[in-house]
Amino acid sequence: MNHSTTTLGEPVTDDVLTRPFPGASPYDTYVHASVLNSLQQPLTEAPDEMGFLVTTQVMELWFTLIVHEWRTARVAFAKDDLPAALDALTRSRRALTALGGAWAPIAALTPAQFNGFRAAFGKASGFQSAMYRHMEFLLGDKSPGLVRAHRGDPAVHEALAEAYREPSLYDEVLAYLHRQGLPVPRHVRERDVTTPYTSDPGVVEVWRRVHAGPRHHPHLTLGESLTDIAELVTRWRFDHVLVVRRAMGARPGSAGSAGLTWLEQRAARPVFPELWEARGDV
Ligand code: HEM
Repeated sequence: MNHSTTTLGEPVTDDVLTRPFPGASPYDTYVHASVLNSLQQPLTEAPDEMGFLVTTQVMELWFTLIVHEWRTARVAFAKDDLPAALDALTRSRRALTALGGAWAPIAALTPAQFNGFRAAFGKASGFQSAMYRHMEFLLGDKSPGLVRAHRGDPAVHEALAEAYREPSLYDEVLAYLHRQGLPVPRHVRERDVTTPYTSDPGVVEVWRRVHAGPRHHPHLTLGESLTDIAELVTRWRFDHVLVVRRAMGARPGSAGSAGLTWLEQRAARPVFPELWEARGDV
């Protein structure tokens, strides 16, 4: 290696680092940075649109990672491999933390700033994010209507329809706990997994027992990991509500919903309901 010094006194390592690549750099070949960085196409000259677009794209990428980790966890639960499942849940928690932090660039948009580009994107809305629906389906929040909405886009539709038919992450957790000897009721284990998951008293009892058990039991670690995930998802939803309230008040949404009141109701839906209910019974 040839070490030299510039006139500014900075050490420069040349040769190895500056030798021309035969084509695209190995970095670009692996990361596809030039593809990623060509995907920002603002529709206006409004100064805040680029931040809005990049924030939305970054969140889509975090959705992709979270879905990947939850699917990994689901496979591990089906194999009774709790350590691998917990690892995947931990990685998803870190991704959810990053997802929540990604609001920062657009968290304080004023209505005038938002209106600078809002008309340009027309009826586009995060409501139409297929990857967000994959997340919700994995949480147990199934909806045939939200699958149907994507019928015009066959690849997206088929992938979402498959996720709709599969058991959710939570369904697999409950099946696993049952195999571990916990009394998950039969009607929960044999439920139609295409219906939205709703709280069941028998499952509240399962989590109550887990909480009443030893402090370092792996099932309690699992329950608390899922509670962290539920909390992070809920925080993301409420942060979204606050961003919306700041940027556009109570105006209707671009997808056609009532806007704020609709989102507030959506945000209030419990994630893994029994994990919260059981806490009152311990
Ligand atoms: C200024 C920023 C934003 C505003 C004003 C806003 C506004 C809204 C509104 C009003 C809705 C309700 C559906 C509709 O009628 O359009 C919605 C839904 C949604 N938005 Fe946003 N949004 C913003 C940023 C984002 C970002 C950055 C994302 C990330 C992808 C996002 C993801 C979503 C999702 C996933 C839904 C559906 C929620 C559900 O189904 O419960 N939003 N948004």
